[in-house]
Parts: sequence; C-alpha cells; structure tokens
Amino acid sequence: MVQQTKKRPTLNDATWDYDEIVRKREQYMAPSLQTFTAFERPLLLSRGDRQYVWDADGKRYLDCLAQNLCISVGYNHPRVNKAIIDQMQAIQHVTTMYYHPEPVAFSEELVARMPAGEDWVVHLVNSGAEAIDLAILMARTYSRNFDLLCLRNSYHGMHFGAMAASGLALCRQPVATSPGFVHAYNPDQYRGIFGPGVEPYIEDLRRVIDSATCGEVAGIMIEPIQGYGGVIPVPKGYIRKAAALVRSAGGVCIIDEVQTGFGRTGDHFWGFEIDDVVPDVVVMSKGIGNGFPLAAVVARREVAEPMTVRKFFNTYGSNPMASAAGRAVLAAIDEEDIQENAREVGKALTTTLGRLKAKYDVIGDVRGRGLMQGIEFVSDHTMRKPADKEASRVQECARENGVILGRSGQHKNVLRINPPLCMSMDDVKLLEQALDGAVARL
Ligand SMILES: Cc1ncc(COP(=O)(O)O)c(C=O)c1O
Repeated sequence: MVQQTKKRPTLNDATWDYDEIVRKREQYMAPSLQTFTAFERPLLLSRGDRQYVWDADGKRYLDCLAQNLCISVGYNHPRVNKAIIDQMQAIQHVTTMYYHPEPVAFSEELVARMPAGEDWVVHLVNSGAEAIDLAILMARTYSRNFDLLCLRNSYHGMHFGAMAASGLALCRQPVATSPGFVHAYNPDQYRGIFGPGVEPYIEDLRRVIDSATCGEVAGIMIEPIQGYGGVIPVPKGYIRKAAALVRSAGGVCIIDEVQTGFGRTGDHFWGFEIDDVVPDVVVMSKGIGNGFPLAAVVARREVAEPMTVRKFFNTYGSNPMASAAGRAVLAAIDEEDIQENAREVGKALTTTLGRLKAKYDVIGDVRGRGLMQGIEFVSDHTMRKPADKEASRVQECARENGVILGRSGQHKNVLRINPPLCMSMDDVKLLEQALDGAVARL
C-alpha cells in the first residue's frame, strides 16, 4: 500500500520539516486553527491523485474525507486543472461589474441541473458560509419576515448568520448570537428525541413556529444529510412536509447542499431529491469546485428579485477561473458517470458497513447514502452511550492502515466516509480491511 513518491518542492522553498511546520503554524497562524485538526499527529500532505493522497514521507492513503468533501471528481483532475490554467493564462479575474462568458455559461449549466419548471437564478460566491449568509438575507428580504427555522445538530458554517443557524454548540463562539434563529428537533432516526418517524418532528416544527416566533417566518434551512452533525439523513417526507408548513407561515425552503450536492448521494444529483419537493433556495459549495474556492446560491427569481432595491455584489463572485473550474466539474461528472459511480460504490459500501455492524458490538449504527456514510460507535446498544474514544482509536488505526476517515457528531463518536466520488470497488475492499483491522484491535 505504501508507495514512495518524490516530495514536490514548494514555491519559495517553504520547509517540509514536520516539526518546523508545526512550530511556525503555531507561531504565525491564528490560534483558533488549532481547534480544528485531525489526528494526534496531523497529516502533512504533499500531493493528491484521484481518490488518494500522499504524505510528506511518501505514504499513500485512500482519502475517505476528501478535504471535508471538497474533492468531488478526484485530485489532480486533468480536465479541471486544464480549465483553471487556461483561464488563468487568459485573464485571472473579472469582477462582477464587467462581463465575461465563463460565469454566464456556468450559471446556465447550474440552472439546467435544477428542477424544471421554475425560473432559477444564480449568485456565485466564494465559500459555503458566505452562500448561507446570502441565502438568509434573500429569505428575509423576500418574505419580509425575520425568524429563520433551523435544525438542532445542523452545521452551516462560521460567518455570523451561518454560525447562528448552526445547531452545534462546539461550532459557536461565545458571543451574542445573531438574533432571529430558532432551532427545532432534528428528525434523527437513531437518536431523535421522538424516536423514528417524520410526523412528531413536523409537529415540533409547528410548535416552534407557534411559540418561538411571531407566527410568521422567513424560512427554514435544512441539510438533507447532516454532515458535521454525524451523518444524519433526514427521513423521506420530512423536507416536503416542513417546506409546506413553513410556506404556510410565509417563509421559504432553503436547502443546504454544501455536502450532499453534485451526485454525492448516488441516487440523486441533489440531496433534497429524495422527496417530491422543489426548494426556493439551494446553497451549494465544496464539491462544486473540486477544491477551488467556489460556492453558489441558486434561487427562484421571485425570491432573489427583492434584493434589487439596493446594491448587492461581491468582488470575487464572478471569477472566471472559479467558473471554469465549476464547469469542468460538471462536465467530468457527466463524462465519467460520477454520480452512477457514487451510487454503485455507495451500495457496496452500505453492504460492507452492514457486515461490520453485524460483526462488532461497538458499532451502534451505520447510515447514509451513496458516498456520504457514517459509522456510529456506542458502548452499549440499549442506552446508545457514545463511544468517542473507541471512534478516535479506530480513526487513528485506520490511518496507520492507509485510510483517512473523518470524525464528527455532537459526541465525536461518528466516523465519516466521504471519499472523492471516483472511489472504486477495490477501494471499498481496502477500506473494509483497514476498518476491520482497526475495530478488531479495540
Ligand atoms: C453543510 C455545510 N454548510 C455550510 C458549510 C460552510 O462552508 P465553508 O466552510 O466553505 O464556509 C459547511 C462546511 O463544512 C457545511 O458542511
């Protein structure tokens, strides 16, 4: 499994010495960054190719985290690379106040991926949280209401609006939170306060509207599968019913597809498509650019229109390199049947995880769709007591076995498997061996 590769020199001869990088990172980079590292000894990565990365010592890993789901069609993708380089050599930036064909073509192509029959418009931005804040602004300017309904255990980013929308304390700074966000119980089918089902959670939403808002709301924001919350899929029927309820209270339905979009869930291009529902606003990022900083808010024209009463722009929103990257990602998804691969390989992964769950008591639940799956570790099946230390040991051991996994959830006891969407059937076997060996060692 270990393949030796030549370390690539960095520009300006930056050091590859691990200890020096650790020291300088602590000295020169913001201390808050130290709150978000993976592994006891974080990885120093030198290169990536398709679904694999290599550390500075030349060890190869199957990357089942894909830089937190940013790498969609694979590292070092020739088509995406070429699109960015060609565009950079022509002109690297054209701001929103000028015209350029790339953002126009990209917007047209994104609209073509949306449910037919609506007049969709695209706003291009740079990051997930920026897109979330814009979606919140759109919901409020359109509805003329203020309160936004969100779900407990959700994660939407770290800007002021996105942080307030998130339902995870560990992602909130201890400052006065932006007002106007209320959190309903998330329909978690494994740990949810009302047990499995959809209706009790819709009823809770109704109670929240009646008790924690003025009865009229700006909208609701939903991740079709809560990612950082611990890979928790929203059950079929919830989005459709929640959208209907919120619309009857004057609000819009915002879907956060930052993790679930672009074919990751296999059966569908968008996560919301498990339900017969058309959202009003869809937020997308991460896989959209295969690692290039890019995000978008796609909204029904009617919802985006009220913002024309004032100026609204962002400097990098129409960057042609980013748009060229986004277009190349869409083309690669089609040409390489990436969504179908996520479906097929995801099915094999589901079977594999089911086998491991049957074999090991410490695995309480396995869940997810396509190539967005999670393994929840518990110390007993009745009380479902989170086994975070065991999850951490398995994550470390899998790394030794050449597989990178993520770890998340309120209790940090869920291992996440979100590889680049080009992961192969052989990789599933490799993952099974690595996981089996790691859990057996507990
Ligand atoms: C579902 C979801 N929404 C929004 C965001 C925020 O994206 P960014 O980190 O690019 O601001 C994230 C980031 O992980 C996310 O997972």
